[in-house]
Amino acid sequence: MKALIASGGRGTRLRPLTHTQNKHLIPIANKPILHYAIEAVVDAGIKQIGIIHNADSDEVPKAIGNGKQWGVKITYIPQKSPLGLAHVVKIGQKFIGKDNFIFYLGDNMVVGGVKRFVDEFERSGCNCHLTLSRVKDPERFGVPEIKNGKIIGVEEKPKKPKSQFAVSGIYIYDHHIFEACKNIKPSGRGELEISDAHQYLLDNGYTVGYSEITGWWKDTGKPSDLLEANRLVLDNIQSRIEGNVDKSSSVAGKLILEPGAKIINSVVRGPAIIGKNAIIENSYVGPFTSIGDECLIKNSEVEFSILLNKCTVTDVKIRIEGSLLGNEAEIVEASGKPHVHRFMIGDQSRVEVA
Ligand code: DAU
Repeated sequence: MKALIASGGRGTRLRPLTHTQNKHLIPIANKPILHYAIEAVVDAGIKQIGIIHNADSDEVPKAIGNGKQWGVKITYIPQKSPLGLAHVVKIGQKFIGKDNFIFYLGDNMVVGGVKRFVDEFERSGCNCHLTLSRVKDPERFGVPEIKNGKIIGVEEKPKKPKSQFAVSGIYIYDHHIFEACKNIKPSGRGELEISDAHQYLLDNGYTVGYSEITGWWKDTGKPSDLLEANRLVLDNIQSRIEGNVDKSSSVAGKLILEPGAKIINSVVRGPAIIGKNAIIENSYVGPFTSIGDECLIKNSEVEFSILLNKCTVTDVKIRIEGSLLGNEAEIVEASGKPHVHRFMIGDQSRVEVA
C-alpha cells in the first residue's frame, strides 16, 4: 500500500493567508496541516508517499523534505494547474503503479488515524473504500446515496443532497480508479471530479465500500474550519512546559510552552500552545489559542485564535477572539489624536471592529 497526498490547489477561501503561504502549511496547534496527513498515513504503516504539489512553487517540497524525519520516502509530483482531484489521481499513476493506495486530501484532518480504514478495505476486498462523515452542510461536499447499507451513487456538491453524509477526503483504491479517472469528463466548474470517478466505478460494476467516521473529521477549507480544527487538536494535547512562567502568573488547563517562551504577570487558561521565544506579558491567553514562535502579546487578551509566527499584539483594550493572524501581523493601540481605528491590511483581509 502506498499513499498519495494532495497539496495543490489555490486555497482561495483562506486568503489573505494563502497569498503568501500554501494552505497546507498553515499551522494547526503550531504544526503544518500537511504534517497531520503524513503522520496519519505513516501510522498506518505506509512507507512510500507521493505528494502532489503546485508545479509553480517548491514551497511544499522545501518545507516537508524527503520524509526522513518520519522514516518514509516522499516523492513529489508537480501538478501544472488544479484541474481536479481525479486529475491528481491520474498524474499519480506512475508513482502508484499496480499498488493499492490511500488517497488523502492534505487539507483534511481526522482523529484516530486511518489504519482502521485501510484494514477495512483489505478485509472487504472492495475496489474502492470511501470514508463518510455526518455533516450539517452536505451540499459543500461529495455526497453518497445509500440504499440497504450500500452506496448506490455519489454526487459532487449537489443542490439537493441524497444523504446527510459528506465523502471525506480519505479514500482507498485499487488500480481500477485509474480506469475511472481516464473515462470521466470535466464538470461544469472545469474540474475532473473525484465523485464522478466514484460514480464511474459504481456504474461499471466495481465494488465501493465505506466506513463511517464517528469521531471528528475536518476539511480545513475555510477560516472557521481552521479555528475548529485548532480547537479539536488542542483539546487532545499533553501539557509540556519548557519555557518560563514567572511567580506572578497563573496557568490553568493544558499548556504546551515551548523552550524560550516566557509568561510574565499573565493569566493563561489552556488548552493552548505558545511557541518558541514567544512573550506573554501582562496579558490573558484563553482556551483554544495557538501562538506561534517569537510572538509578543503585551497588555492584551487573546482567546480561541491562531497567531502565526512573529505576531505582535500590544495594548489592545478589547479581547481578540476567533481570529487568525498571519506571520508578523501586528495589532497595536492607535496612538495620538483623534482616537481612531487605523488599518494597514493586505488584499482580501477581513477585520471586524466593535
Ligand atoms: O474534503 C472532502 C471533499 O474534498 C469531498 O467531499 C469532495 O467530494 C471533494 O471534491 C473535495 O472537495 P473540495 O471542494 O473540498 O476540494 P478542494 O478543491 O478544496 O481540494 C481538496 C484538496 O485537494 C486540497 O487540499 C487542495 C487539493 N487539490 C485540489 C485540486 C482541485 C489539489 O492538490 N489539486 C487539485 O487539482
